[in-house]
Amino acid sequence: MSDLKGVVLAGGLGTRLWPLTKITNKHLLPIYDKPMIYYPIQLLVDAGIKDILIVTGGPHAGEFLRLLGNGNKFGLKHINYAYQEGEGGIADALRLAEHFAHGHRLAVVLGDNIFENNIKKHVDIFRKQKKGARVLLKPIDDPQRFGVATIKNNKIESIIEKPKKPKSNLAVTGFYLYDAEVFNIIRTLKPSHRGELEITDVNNAYLKRKQLEYGVLDGWWSDSGTFDSLLRVNQLVAKKTQNKVS
Ligand code: G1P
Repeated sequence: MSDLKGVVLAGGLGTRLWPLTKITNKHLLPIYDKPMIYYPIQLLVDAGIKDILIVTGGPHAGEFLRLLGNGNKFGLKHINYAYQEGEGGIADALRLAEHFAHGHRLAVVLGDNIFENNIKKHVDIFRKQKKGARVLLKPIDDPQRFGVATIKNNKIESIIEKPKKPKSNLAVTGFYLYDAEVFNIIRTLKPSHRGELEITDVNNAYLKRKQLEYGVLDGWWSDSGTFDSLLRVNQLVAKKTQNKVS
């Protein structure tokens, strides 16, 4: 059994999807035939990660417990939950996983990121990586909506959060592999202009230490935090599910 633990970050108010998120949490909205949160949990389970923490927050946090219970549906014995007070950003939500991680390394996935394929290959590479972090990159058409990486000599050279003029088409997906140093790094972060602790700043801190590796994703990937991406990912998942059935 692997020593990696999994964290699904499912907080925030989902304001970009208002009014869909007025009476529920974004991560409970449907993606084709399942609630959004099912997909990142399944991604971790399929990568062999069985010890999972869900970090959520806001007024609908209790619904996660009602929906997921002890995770039997995913073959889990139990699920861990943490509650994020306020909306301090992705890195602030991850801070709440320190107690759960207890010195173990982490696979972290954003609750609104949906991947076509299993990412076990990348997790297995990280299992052999001695220290540091690993991110998954994906070439896409609209990288300016995401963290964007540039590569030089097969190494990440920079990551810029939502650049107006992206220097590459490589988006940083919402799946991150970290060693336990991540919590010391988070303690050094200052809030960004949007008042949040940014996950891109965490990745750049690893980059500064020359401890940031990367893999390039095959298959499609999408976030689902806007109306257009939510619609698109519903269509992609529907197509994938129907292909499997027929
Ligand atoms: C966040 C990260 C960004 C990453 C994206 C993936 O963006 O800040 O670097 O590329 O998730 O979905 P946000 O959803 O907070 O705008």
